[in-house]
Amino acid sequence: MTQPAPFGRLLWHGATLPCQTEPMSVIENSKLTVVGAGAVGSSVAYAALIRGSARHIALYDIATEKVEAEVLDLAHGTQFTGTSDIIGGSDVSVAEGSHVVVITAGAKQRPGQTRTELAGVNANILKSMLPQLLEVAPNAIYVIVTNPCDVLTVLAQEATGLPPERIFASGTVLDTSRLRWLLGRRAGVSTASVHAYIVGEHGDTEFPLWSTTTIGTVPILDFDPIDGDPMTVDELDHIAVDVRDAAYKVIQGKGATNYAIGLSSARIVEAILSDEHSVMPVSTVLHDFHGLSGVALSVPSIVSASGAVPIRETQFSPNELGLLRRSADALRDVAASLRD
Ligand SMILES: NC(=O)c1ccc[n+]([C@@H]2O[C@H](COP(=O)([O-])OP(=O)(O)OC[C@H]3O[C@@H](n4cnc5c(N)ncnc54)[C@H](O)[C@@H]3O)[C@@H](O)[C@H]2O)c1
Repeated sequence: MTQPAPFGRLLWHGATLPCQTEPMSVIENSKLTVVGAGAVGSSVAYAALIRGSARHIALYDIATEKVEAEVLDLAHGTQFTGTSDIIGGSDVSVAEGSHVVVITAGAKQRPGQTRTELAGVNANILKSMLPQLLEVAPNAIYVIVTNPCDVLTVLAQEATGLPPERIFASGTVLDTSRLRWLLGRRAGVSTASVHAYIVGEHGDTEFPLWSTTTIGTVPILDFDPIDGDPMTVDELDHIAVDVRDAAYKVIQGKGATNYAIGLSSARIVEAILSDEHSVMPVSTVLHDFHGLSGVALSVPSIVSASGAVPIRETQFSPNELGLLRRSADALRDVAASLRD
């Protein structure tokens, strides 16, 4: 059996890590609550259950019949998962004592509708829900998935007064996975061997950090795939558009995107609960990040038991910095219109 090292911590899955921070980051019997049992919320719960992302998982939704049915269906499969268990219902008390709350509740994007068009409806849902959640899970880290996730993060951070590291959006974690998949296929390497980030808004103004993208250690434009020619700037531009528009394509075909966001969210939860200090492009309210403040944008950030902290030293080419500012301007305008 694994013994905790004298200055280590026993994590929920029994692994030990050297303790470099205060023991506050120890999370035993970790609890995840997923708010919203729709296409996205049930997929987050399903991914977290299968991956063992948390010891206890709760699903909360105001639609009683729906949430109870989803919980039953998920629970019926737990013979075949690890030790995680699942409860849920339409009483917010199911979220009691959560370490992480992932919010997916809200209206979803309809075919042809932009994420920003959803903003007003979902901002009101979030505003009414957060005080209740904070009452039962005052120490949780809040991850917002509901769209438009960047704008909702700014409004939610302002409304709750939580430190920015404790309330952030899944942001472009999903978009980054889409980018790495496309590049990996084109380059003939595994997705995990692609080092690339989509940053900015989770939406129409998002963009890849091409200046630092590599396959292994090789800059993207220098990489020579075994089956095919090196990529060109034109091709990379097309790939960026494909990533940006990926959600529209999936929604057109099946009405929602759910599996990939389920997995992306489960990974964020794991980085928090296992105090991983993993680098992920989540969206936090920025403070003097390359001159940007008071707006939530995805940039590479360190995700741990303390939450998410943007990496200030992240390098941008002058063009990329211009695009980041464009993203910030677009989001600032939407947030301002919702504050009025
Ligand atoms: N950030 C991302 O990368 C990403 C990816 C995919 C989807 N999304 C977003 O996730 C959200 C959910 O999408 P979906 O397809 O699951 O929608 P859905 O309509 O299937 O589910 C939404 C659920 O929220 C519930 N809900 C509404 N108000 C509530 C409240 N006050 N309290 C608790 N539950 C409430 C509804 O009953 C419903 O079950 C959308 O905003 C969508 O745009 C984000």
